[in-house]
This record gives sequence, C-alpha cells and structure tokens, in this order.
Amino acid sequence: MASLEGMRVLDMTQYEAGTSATQYLAWLGADVVKVEGPTGDPGRHVGSGMNGADSQYFMNYNGNKRSIVLNLKTERGRQTFFDLVPHFDVFIENYGPGILEALDIDIEYLRKLNPRLICARLKGFGLSGPYKDFLVYDWVAQAAAGAFSVTGDVDGPPRIVGPTYADSGTGMQAAIGILAAYVEQQRTGLGQVIELSMQEAVSMFMRTLELEKWGHTPATRHGYLRGRAAGGLYKCKGDDPNDWMFIYPATTQMWDALCATIDRPDMVNDERYVTAEARVANIDSVYEQIAAWTAQHDKREAMRLLGAAGVPCSYVFDTVDLFEDEHLKARDFIQTIQHPIAGPVQLMRPALLMEGMEPMEPAPSLGQHTDEVLAEVLGLDAGALAALRVEGVTRVRD
Ligand SMILES: CC(C)(COP(=O)(O)OP(=O)(O)OC[C@H]1O[C@@H](n2cnc3c(N)ncnc32)[C@H](O)[C@@H]1OP(=O)(O)O)[C@@H](O)C(=O)NCCC(=O)NCCS
Repeated sequence: MASLEGMRVLDMTQYEAGTSATQYLAWLGADVVKVEGPTGDPGRHVGSGMNGADSQYFMNYNGNKRSIVLNLKTERGRQTFFDLVPHFDVFIENYGPGILEALDIDIEYLRKLNPRLICARLKGFGLSGPYKDFLVYDWVAQAAAGAFSVTGDVDGPPRIVGPTYADSGTGMQAAIGILAAYVEQQRTGLGQVIELSMQEAVSMFMRTLELEKWGHTPATRHGYLRGRAAGGLYKCKGDDPNDWMFIYPATTQMWDALCATIDRPDMVNDERYVTAEARVANIDSVYEQIAAWTAQHDKREAMRLLGAAGVPCSYVFDTVDLFEDEHLKARDFIQTIQHPIAGPVQLMRPALLMEGMEPMEPAPSLGQHTDEVLAEVLGLDAGALAALRVEGVTRVRD
C-alpha cells in the first residue's frame, strides 16, 4: 500500500514551485487533483512536447496526478470548488500575490468549510513584508536569497546559477510542511495554514557559506575554478566543453590518496602541501600539479581512479550524462513511461527510494479527469456534468 494512500490534495499549483511539492505527494500515494483554469497550468506550454502533447517540463512535475478544469472566474465554477473542499485534506496554491483573493477564494472560508483542511501557500516573498506583492520566478528568488552573490568569478559580476533549486527547493520544503501538518491532522482532526516564502526557502541553502563572516561581511564569490579546501575544477582530456572534473581533497588523508593516485608520492611530504592550510596558501601550485594529471585522463577514467582511492570527486556531468552514465543506468534513475499522446517519455524517478512509492504514471492532459472526479467526489450525474461543460465551467480532454 502506498504511504500516503487516503490523503486527498486539491492542487492549485502551477509551473514548478508548487507542482514539485504535489508531485512528491502523488508519488507517495496521495490522490492529487490538479484544479486548472480553462487554459491550464502555463507550465504545460513551457518548451515543446512530443506529438503536440504537453511539454516535457509539465510531464516532469505532474505525473501521477489527476487534472480537472474549473473556471473559477464563474460563480458555478467557484461554487463547485467550494463543494469539493470538504472532501480534501490539503489545499495548495502558488499563484501570484492577491490572485486567490481576486478569485474570491478566502482561506478562512475554506477552513470554515473544512476545519481539517491543510492550506499551503507558496509566494515569492511570503504573505507579509514590503515585497509581499512582488511576482517571483525561480531565478528571482535565487537573486533575492544571495545565491548569485556567491557565484561567478571572484573579481567578476554575480552569475546566475543553472539549476532551478528555488522552485523545487521551495516545493520540497512545502511537502515537508504538509506531511507534518497531515500527521497532526490525523492526531487532532484539525488543519492549519502553511506559508512559504521562496526567498527564505532558498536562503536555507546559504547556511554553509563563509560562516566566519556570517551576518556582517558579504561572502565572496566562489570563482570558476577553485573552491575551498584545495578543491577545484580541473580540465580533463578532450575537447568537449564539459571535459572537466571536480576534485575535493578536504582532509590530509584524502590529499595523500590523491597524491598516490596521480603518481606523485613526493607531494605528500612537500611542506607546501602538507596541511590543509598550506594547500590553500599554495593553491596555484596545487592546481598546477593536479591539472597536469587530469589533462592526460578522460574525465570518467579520472573519476573512477580517484573515487576508488577515496578522493571525493566527480566528473562534470552534462544533462545527457544524467541519462547515459553507467552508475545512474545501473540504478534505473531514468524511467521510460508510455504517454497516450507523446508516446514513450523519459522521466527521472523520485530520488527517494522507499517502500510505499507509486509506480510512475504520465501527467494528465488538461481536464482529463474532470467528469471522473466530479462524479466520484460530488456524485454529479451525466446531465449535471454536461451542463457544467456547456456553461464553460469545466472542460474535459479534447
Ligand atoms: C509565477 C508568477 C510570477 C506568474 O505570474 P502570472 O503569470 O502573472 O500568473 P498569476 O499566478 O499571477 O495569475 C494566474 C492567472 O490565472 C488565473 N487562474 C488560475 N486558476 C484559475 C482557474 N481555475 N480559473 C480561472 N482563472 C484561473 C488567475 O485568476 C490569474 O488570472 P489573471 O491573470 O486574470 O489575474 C506568479 O504566479 C507568482 O509570483 N507566484 C508565486 C511564486 C511562485 O510560485 N513562483 C514560481 C513559479 S515556478
């Protein structure tokens, strides 16, 4: 039995921040009903999809969910939504500031309709404070959390960070909050309101940076090549832009293992490298010695040798390596599922490996489950469902 079987989620999320939270709940077995407007989650159109289907982006964050269309700008649509509320455990949204209120959906009213309801609200800067009305996408939150200030060349401008960890990082923290509130709801019968600011959620990832300057001097940028503890990026053999590897010999034991692997036992007792402090002080020389070795090795081979010797390292995976690397393949990290329109779709499986996970299912098309959910939850018959369609309140899959 799936871990969250029985949990019902009314999901008004869009793009990635909210959808990544409900994606995990669905993988864990919750019945996630995605409520969309007539044109659907805009994430359906971020990038292209195969055979005219929804985008890969949408598929990555909406598997194992059901989709219903309810036009909340109509009175009937709003009323139908309110009728659904008592049947659900969780309501979650990540619309722009004031959008829910403009749709005349009041959280306190939802809680009156269903005191067990857990209401999770994800906003760029939270629900209070001077920036509360600002719109926020992932990179906006990263900028606001300080991430760009520590990224880039030491003497250059701040740089954008590639991964969208503000969205999914916020989503994961929202999922934690929902799970905790659900445990409490099971114990007390009461729901609660959960609020998450993306800016604050991303700041959670800043707590390790240059702690000696914590709170009074801005942390410096990391630089392109060199990190701390004599760690750094090293060019490997080959002409591909990602023919590089990252090596992080943080302790003297790791350093000694590195020296042995690159066949430089002389460096172990060299006073320029003998302690972590000495290596940092002589970082240019450290870099030169290691780079001379990596330049002669393929990045995968270099990783195999150093990794096996106990030196923390990885070659620089590109996004295709995530699909083709032997390690990830051995762990079935990429799964192929059949989508009714797109055909075979490749998805990353959840990183969580545990009992009680659902097999991966394709993301729903817009309104695919509208009639199914309204009949099942509200008991609407064929006539009532048809009337809602004709009035433009609902939509089923074309
Ligand atoms: C992401 C963001 C910047 C997008 O802004 P946006 O494109 O202006 O979209 P909004 O969320 O503000 O508005 C959604 C619209 O869909 C409408 N809508 C949503 N669900 C609807 C439904 N079921 N029926 C009818 N209309 C619906 C809303 O009424 C609103 O319409 P409006 O533009 O006429 O006011 C903004 O939503 C935001 O800041 N969200 C919070 C932070 C966040 O999660 N950001 C990261 C996303 S990955």
